[in-house]
Amino acid sequence: MIYRESEQNGVFDVLEKHRIGFVPYSPLGRGFLTGTINPNEKLEDNDFRRNLPLFYPENIRAHQKIIGFIQEMAREKNATPSQIALAWVLARRPWIVPIPGTTKLHRLEENIGACEVVFTDDELARIDGMLEALPIQCSRYNNRFTDATTD
Ligand SMILES: NC(=O)c1ccc[n+]([C@@H]2O[C@H](COP(=O)([O-])OP(=O)(O)OC[C@H]3O[C@@H](n4cnc5c(N)ncnc54)[C@H](OP(=O)(O)O)[C@@H]3O)[C@@H](O)[C@H]2O)c1
Repeated sequence: MIYRESEQNGVFDVLEKHRIGFVPYSPLGRGFLTGTINPNEKLEDNDFRRNLPLFYPENIRAHQKIIGFIQEMAREKNATPSQIALAWVLARRPWIVPIPGTTKLHRLEENIGACEVVFTDDELARIDGMLEALPIQCSRYNNRFTDATTD
């Protein structure tokens, strides 16, 4: 939901043509889309997300409307925000396989529940409308991060 370059730069067309699957990188936005990241609580010192602009407290606050929308959709669908984010990825193409990361068994079970969430065309259009109306306003990486790693 956060970074959709692969849909927009022709990669999906190539995958479709050659029947290649796609694993979307960090399908829960590294936890951002789950609505559990509190801008008033510091991430642990050893949490690398502290270096990602999206996880700066001011940017978490600035993007709360996205989280609010996902939470609202989750209530409507009797699901959780994580399940909404994953079900949306699953709904994009049949050959997309998200592998959400978690250190907690109960969340693994919750995330598997995304397979049971099915959107109507109208719901998918509403999600697309929200994503278009509320684009991410900060850069993906800061210089320190991009200097230290390749992606
Ligand atoms: N090749 C690469 O360089 C690379 C880099 C990054 C990721 N990946 C791959 O992408 C996949 C997942 O990436 P990721 O773990 O970075 O990001 P992610 O799946 O988008 O998000 C994982 C984060 O979300 C939290 N989370 C998971 N389920 C949750 C739930 N139901 N409710 C609330 N929070 C939840 C996890 O915290 P808890 O642990 O506390 O649950 C964790 O902080 C993996 O397959 C990984 O190998 C690959």
